[in-house]
Amino acid sequence: MSVEKRDVHNPLLFEAAWEVANKVGGIYTVIKTKAPVTQQEYGDRYCLIGPLSYKTAPMEVEALEPEEPALKATLESMKAAGVKYLYGRWLIERAPKVLLFDTGSMYHRMDEWKGDLWNLAGIPTPPNDHETNETLIFGYMVAWFLGEFVTRERKKAVIAHFHEWQAGLAIPLCRKRHIDVTTIFTTHATLLGRYLCAGSVDFYNNLQYFDVDHEAGKRGIYHRYCIERSAAHCADVFTTVSHITAYESEHLLKRKPDGVLPNGLNVVKFSAMHEFQNLHAVSKHKINEFIKGHFYGHYDFDLDNTLYFFTAGRYEYRNKGVDMFIEALARLNYRLQKAGSKVTVVAFIIMPAETKSYTIEALKGQAVTKQLRDTVEQIQARIGERLFERTARYQGDSGTDIIDPSQLLSDADKIALKKRVFALKRNSLPPVVTHNMADDSNDPILNQIRRVQLFNRSSDRVKMIFHPEFLNANNPILGLDYEEFVRGCHLGVFPSYYEPWGYTPAECTVMGIPSITTNLSGFGCFMEDTIERGEDYGIYIVDRRMKSVEDSVNQLADQMFTYAQKTRRQRINQRNRTERLSELLDWKRLGLEYAKARQLALRRAYPDSFEDDEDIDSYFDDIAAGGKMQPPMSVPGSPRLPPSGMRTPGEFGTLTEELQSLSTSDYRGSQQFWRAMSQHGSDDE
Ligand code: UDP
Ligand code: G6P
Ligand code: GLC
Repeated sequence: MSVEKRDVHNPLLFEAAWEVANKVGGIYTVIKTKAPVTQQEYGDRYCLIGPLSYKTAPMEVEALEPEEPALKATLESMKAAGVKYLYGRWLIERAPKVLLFDTGSMYHRMDEWKGDLWNLAGIPTPPNDHETNETLIFGYMVAWFLGEFVTRERKKAVIAHFHEWQAGLAIPLCRKRHIDVTTIFTTHATLLGRYLCAGSVDFYNNLQYFDVDHEAGKRGIYHRYCIERSAAHCADVFTTVSHITAYESEHLLKRKPDGVLPNGLNVVKFSAMHEFQNLHAVSKHKINEFIKGHFYGHYDFDLDNTLYFFTAGRYEYRNKGVDMFIEALARLNYRLQKAGSKVTVVAFIIMPAETKSYTIEALKGQAVTKQLRDTVEQIQARIGERLFERTARYQGDSGTDIIDPSQLLSDADKIALKKRVFALKRNSLPPVVTHNMADDSNDPILNQIRRVQLFNRSSDRVKMIFHPEFLNANNPILGLDYEEFVRGCHLGVFPSYYEPWGYTPAECTVMGIPSITTNLSGFGCFMEDTIERGEDYGIYIVDRRMKSVEDSVNQLADQMFTYAQKTRRQRINQRNRTERLSELLDWKRLGLEYAKARQLALRRAYPDSFEDDEDIDSYFDDIAAGGKMQPPMSVPGSPRLPPSGMRTPGEFGTLTEELQSLSTSDYRGSQQFWRAMSQHGSDDE
């Protein structure tokens, strides 16, 4: 019996991730910012799949009735079996379709599915790991959906793209059940990598030697590791976000990725070139207001000569390099003091931790400055009235007197002002943390601040503010959205030790804010490979590969010190250059790598459907049209850009069938490092 071939030229695409319409960290940013270009390419053939959170979904999704017959019938059949879901449009640019499954509706099948997973794939699932339970149920619901869907939709090829282990469990299920889809697995980290780095191992020098099962077992994540590893092995195409994570995946997951899909952003170009500079000034003004309140009674520095540095992200103390940031700030403080600098640096740490509430002091600071402002406004009005009254009075034909300035303030005004001045006095130093921490004495960030004694003294040129909660414009004390806050700052500092990509510095770049990152972050390596003399463009990279920790800390302190020496004009110029790099990070270019991964997946699953290679080339050209990179107009020479003819800066040539046997030296990123790594390996053999 001849089976009808599926149409590989108009495939359907399902993209599943735990962070679809559900914000946790950077994967949400990947999915949300990429969706518009994928939607543009696939139109109604695209649908995202994620978990249903009743708390956030109403704000993210507008419900719709499914119309497409195969989808409608599949969802009806699942509903009849008790599955709860929300289908609709995700309320983001281009409004792609989303299908969110309520895992809670299938918890009663947990034991059955756990047994099945063990029989089918030999993967154990212990009873009390909530995250794994969610992963299991979600994976079974997605595989159920895809399995039923492809029996109804028989004409078009179906690509199922999964991100990260929490969405990856459906992949071994698709494979074992012979579901007629082609699968892609994109990992944004490895579980073991994240765990090992958070401890105190020398991770990068030992990558080849870890006994992975043993290490995963020791950390109680063996079952999660099995899910991740089986997703990587069962997928038709396996990819990750950077070369450094590709290298790590090869050794820890034991499959070499087929390619690297660097993360992009949805770059918004303002019609006025300098609009982003104006936004910086407006946002900085808002941060200034916060600072006046926070430092009340100790506000003895000049805000016109103050720089705002920050780090932000999920609270991963060592992986995100917060240890190094604080240590380098202490050295910066010392150097600025020694140099007699008039510059003040306020360093923010925005990392959510468990807290009880805002501190009274933090709230009081904003309250007393607000009261002062109110009082000043009232007095201002009264002075205006007096001035008008005195000047309007008829003084005879020759009278030209004006009011004696010493009479402008009444005695009552003076008392009101004195009261305010009195309220601004405080005995304690401005707090380094804005919230009451659930576990203050054991908090690693606070302990490091205590160790280096950055206590916001008047003599300190570096002041510290730890805000242990993500930012939100509705917060009572630092009431700005994250994007607004970043725009108002001068420098983002992200000295990560473990960072598969690292959106935070990339987001700084597209907003025209310089940043510091490391050559252990995917983004840092990508920029190092793409542009020369990054520092001129506001891309500072700390070497955490070849240098000792001590030397890396000094390098970071140096970079911050050098930045603090810049004049305002130099900062403005540098922001202009930084912002010009945003095209490098635009999904309009980087989305092409995803398109290649999908083509490879189709070719692997349906090799007989491809005959004509030219089709593929023109296909990529169509997608790439309009997305060509123009070299930034640069004052200090041009950054090293992809040679013309190369389609995207992410095109490393790994996503082809011929390159299946890449060696370690094929990974991008400091070649010196990979050589040292390979050498290290062969020395021991
Ligand atoms: N972020 C945020 N609010 C904040 C701080 C960070 O929304 O107050 C976001 C930030 O915009 C970024 C994400 O959190 O997109 C962190 O992603 P990254 O890739 O840097 O790290 P991950 O958390 O994925 O390891
Ligand atoms: C932007 C604004 C300028 C402002 C400057 C402050 O460039 O357009 O009007 O003077 O920001 O820069 P600074 O680096 O001192 O915050
Ligand atoms: C992960 C990584 C981060 C990356 C993000 C998106 O959570 O920790 O480095 O930027 O995924 O790929």
